[in-house]
Amino acid sequence: MATIQMKVSAEDLSQVPKAKERVPDPGILVIFGGSGDLTKRKLLPALYHLRQADLLPEQFAIVGVARRPIGDEFAADMREGIIEFAGIDAGDPKLADFVSHISYYALDFGDQAGYAGLRNEMDRIAKEQGIGPNRLYYLATAPEFFTGIVENLGAQGLAQPEKGLSAVVIEKPFGHDLESARELNHRVNTVFRENQVFRIDHYLGKDTVQNLLVFRFANGIFEPIWKRNYIDHVQITVAEQIGVERRGPFYEKAGALRDVVQNHMMELLAMVAMEPPASFDAESVRREKLKVWQAIPPIPILNAVRGQYGPGIVGSKHVLGYRDEERVNPESGTETYAALRLEIENWRWAGVPFYLRAGKRMKKRATEIAIYFKQPPLLIFNRMKARNYCQEIQPNLLTIRIQPDEGIALRFGAKVPSAPEMNVCPVTMDFDYQSAFGKSSANGYERLLLDAMLGDQTLFAHREGVETTWALYTPILQAWAAKTPEVFPNYFAGSWGPECADHLLEKDGHSWRNTLGRNP
Ligand code: BG6
Repeated sequence: MATIQMKVSAEDLSQVPKAKERVPDPGILVIFGGSGDLTKRKLLPALYHLRQADLLPEQFAIVGVARRPIGDEFAADMREGIIEFAGIDAGDPKLADFVSHISYYALDFGDQAGYAGLRNEMDRIAKEQGIGPNRLYYLATAPEFFTGIVENLGAQGLAQPEKGLSAVVIEKPFGHDLESARELNHRVNTVFRENQVFRIDHYLGKDTVQNLLVFRFANGIFEPIWKRNYIDHVQITVAEQIGVERRGPFYEKAGALRDVVQNHMMELLAMVAMEPPASFDAESVRREKLKVWQAIPPIPILNAVRGQYGPGIVGSKHVLGYRDEERVNPESGTETYAALRLEIENWRWAGVPFYLRAGKRMKKRATEIAIYFKQPPLLIFNRMKARNYCQEIQPNLLTIRIQPDEGIALRFGAKVPSAPEMNVCPVTMDFDYQSAFGKSSANGYERLLLDAMLGDQTLFAHREGVETTWALYTPILQAWAAKTPEVFPNYFAGSWGPECADHLLEKDGHSWRNTLGRNP
């Protein structure tokens, strides 16, 4: 299939202003769960990138908090993490200076008295380094510690600074069903006001996800056709090649629906389906997203299928089945794959099926949104199909590659040159982030950390949004919990998931797009 590439000129790129006004005021970032993987792999490398881009203030401090008394080892370990995961040279001149801003405070999260010590430690650092009252608390711990930490911070008066920012960033999973999410919201909001709460979903930090809004609302030509009159159906895929890695105990309790569908995929869905917000501020954007989720009627249980991988080959490597993974129940009923069909009952989308699927140990890693447009009302060239040496005329297809090979492609039919007849062949116009901008997009945490430090909630989940999406999935989770599937495992690692997921689309005469990636 032919492909047309697009490039952004160096001249255009040089016009992009540097956002110096987005540098937060001096402050202290306290990371609870500081000794965990997330801190080392994602948060510190992201903070370092912000520093490199001069987007951190001169006076800032990062305090890792966890139970083990590791002291200075923490900063050294974070340095290693930055080198490994931010791809930084050990001799990078800014690294030593950055690491000098990192310290550690040992605290048992349940020890109320220990929080007074933490407050004193923050006061000491602030005084020593001339840092004002801004404090950001990042909860990167296991979810069972969230409420305890928040309540202890509240008890020390740390949630209500006299001036400046006092905010809490809460990692996912935010609850494990509707009831627990409500309870968590209630307890968090008893201590912190909603405008101090940043529920993080790292998908919203991805450039390609934010670009969905730019693509739709900064361009005039797509919006008029972005509706049921022209769109046949939408497929959203989050396919991963990795398995559960060392997260067996966490994943056993989560499963694909809780881990990815209820949060990341619902955010993607909202970005595709929402109405244009009045402005790009937190309230307008969140309100429009909420309306989308609220317009989804209950999903019939028959429209949701689950799968679990057995052993297989991923990339040319033999891999274990889920039940043989480390610290996983050998008879586990946890789903590592989930697919569903839903509809959005509003004027824009009524009758357009949205198919969502998420799976681990899939054939290929690809997070992608595929918008299938309707065929033209009359296929005049199809009458010549018998003599046509190209494929049957295919509908226009817009694919948005969230990752990897970030970009957007539009498929359309073109006349085969020099052919004596009207032979139509699908071609693709392809925008590729890497070749257009010369750099791949950031991992998501940079933008979100920066926004949280600036107090900008636009790219964070709101209380009502979280509860609405849980309300949608809780009945399915309950139905699945009531019955362990007899057929698990039902897909091979390295395949495209279980057969039952294909039937979900076949009923509508559709099929999954399994040629994910560049050049559809
Ligand atoms: C996390 C899930 O939220 O997202 C993981 O807990 C999943 O299981 C990850 O692998 C996917 O994120 P990304 O950015 O690699 O698509």
